[in-house]
Amino acid sequence: MVEADNVSMKYNRCKQYALEDVSFSISRGEFVFIVGSSGAGKSTLLKLIIREIKPTAGLMKVFGKDISRLPRRRLPSLRRSIGMVFQDFRLIDDRTVSENVAFALMVTGASRRDIRKKVPHVLGLVGLQEKAKERVCDLSGGEQQRVGLARALVNRPSIIMADEPTGNLDPGTALDIMNLLRSINLSGTTVLVATHNREIVDRFKKRVIYLDQGKLIGDEQKGIYTHVR
Ligand SMILES: Nc1ncnc2c1ncn2[C@@H]1O[C@H](COP(=O)(O)OP(=O)(O)OP(=O)(O)O)[C@@H](O)[C@H]1O
Ligand SMILES: [Mg+2]
Repeated sequence: MVEADNVSMKYNRCKQYALEDVSFSISRGEFVFIVGSSGAGKSTLLKLIIREIKPTAGLMKVFGKDISRLPRRRLPSLRRSIGMVFQDFRLIDDRTVSENVAFALMVTGASRRDIRKKVPHVLGLVGLQEKAKERVCDLSGGEQQRVGLARALVNRPSIIMADEPTGNLDPGTALDIMNLLRSINLSGTTVLVATHNREIVDRFKKRVIYLDQGKLIGDEQKGIYTHVR
């Protein structure tokens, strides 16, 4: 599903590498944590996968294709296949929960009928059916996180990527979100979660890719630890 071959990313000439020579491969149906302290390169890695940015060097393959070479007109299709929950949510604050989720469908050219059916369904999945008509700016952080997840899920992507989905949430809500991601994974969707929440990572016992200052320093597959450097 996702393959990084010696991927490096430098945002500008003066800066250090945000990612340096990173290689890994993620198969269909896997659940993978991307772990590392602040600035390690977690968000950069996810942004490379949806081609929000292009690698400075190396090859990033998604669904078997080098996405650096993907023509611009193919980007919407790539991003429909990958649901992304952003660290900063990127919701439209003064619009309702339903409208935010509906927008993700509208840009794909979905019919009104489709939208009327799919939005309530996905809001039900994330437990937000009661909040459908509320404006996003009136919601709590945990609720906004769920709107982001609903929006990412509504196009039934084959990969879901969540960037720090438990940041700023109380432990109970964090666990709810993670359990939701786990059930999405159990239904066949590949899940990538970037986090520095050690407790969650230990609890879920999934594959963990460790980043440290832009370098991949470990890849731990369900208890089998491979030290890379
Ligand atoms: N848009 C940008 N322009 C320039 N440098 C950036 C940009 N985004 C990230 N960086 C740099 O790249 C490095 C990795 O940042 P990144 O956001 O990927 O880290 P992170 O692991 O997601 O951190 P956090 O846990 O704080 O979210 C940092 O040194 C950061 O300063
Ligand atoms: Mg980040």
